[in-house]
Amino acid sequence: MFNYQGKNVVVVGGTNGINLGIACAFAKVGANVAVASRNMDKVNTALALLQQTNPKGKHIGVSFDVRDSDAVASGFNSIADQYNTIDILISGAAGNFPSRAKDLSVNGFKSVMDIDLLGSFQVIKQAYPLLTKGNASVIQISAPQAYVPMALQVHVCAAKAGVDMLTRTLAMEWGVEGIRVNSIVPGPIEETEGFDRLAPSKALKSMIADSVPLKRNGQKQDIANAALFLASDMASYITGTILPVDGGWSLGGAGAAMDALAKHLPQ
Ligand code: COA
Ligand code: NAP
Repeated sequence: MFNYQGKNVVVVGGTNGINLGIACAFAKVGANVAVASRNMDKVNTALALLQQTNPKGKHIGVSFDVRDSDAVASGFNSIADQYNTIDILISGAAGNFPSRAKDLSVNGFKSVMDIDLLGSFQVIKQAYPLLTKGNASVIQISAPQAYVPMALQVHVCAAKAGVDMLTRTLAMEWGVEGIRVNSIVPGPIEETEGFDRLAPSKALKSMIADSVPLKRNGQKQDIANAALFLASDMASYITGTILPVDGGWSLGGAGAAMDALAKHLPQ
């Protein structure tokens, strides 16, 4: 259905979970894929998986912390050495842990803001000079927390709301250059670190599934499919969109489900 042969895709935070699923989905349809994250072992494991998925692709692994501007700049320099241009940028690095606002230190709040919001800006800013003018796609990985207030998530709600405003603002500024900027909003996704942290037991996961209108939690492939579509020519008139891929969770069930979930944590 999709052909990304010869396209250069960079997935920041692409060495695990949802973002690794996206990286592999692009590799599977012919793309060259670069992945970046902090941990070099994770980078190497992801790289091996990409090579296995698409042996003909030119895949790259780089290590940086999105909070370190020099490291991000140097990571993108290494990517530029191998790919002259970037067709698709996925910005998905994030941090999350459940905490009541009263128990969250200022530094805990700041850590998530620094990774999710400032880190995303840093990544997109460094990638900008390399983006193929006329036909590039930037996709940020947001979360329902961006527009649904949730218990235990004050830091993530504030950060992801900012991420979506980055998306909308950059879409305004960069449309004239043929750069589309969109957000994908995953719902609760099975077998991921993010979901395990919020709903650490099978019982809590099925309680969440029950609060989703489609009555199931999502799969990594659900998010990868949306990324393949949004980056494609089929979506060439779509920019500045915040696309929920959440089974309808953010229509109403999400806030109430997190309220219920909070009762399972010690006060
Ligand atoms: N509850 C409350 N506060 C917490 C916390 C928790 N579970 N985990 C970390 N914090 C606080 C720390 O106490 C610290 O604040 P302090 O200095 O006032 O004590 C602050 O957050 C930074 O913690 P630290 O462990 O030094 O951060 P880090 O930079 O090494 O890691 C995190 C960043 C905390 C976001 C870490 O969980 C991480 O790396 N996450 C990436 C993976 C992930 O979250 N995946 C899900 C994506 S949705
Ligand atoms: P994950 O498995 O924890 O993956 C996070 C990735 O980001 C890892 O590759 C991690 O690798 C990297 N990363 C973390 N901090 C980083 C930093 N400071 N600098 C560079 N890289 C960093 O997460 P996930 O659960 O799949 O979530 C992926 C994305 O989807 C996130 O943006 C999250 O907010 C969003 N989301 C997830 C869910 C869900 O159900 N899981 C729901 C809604 C939204 P290193 O450790 O090597 O750095």
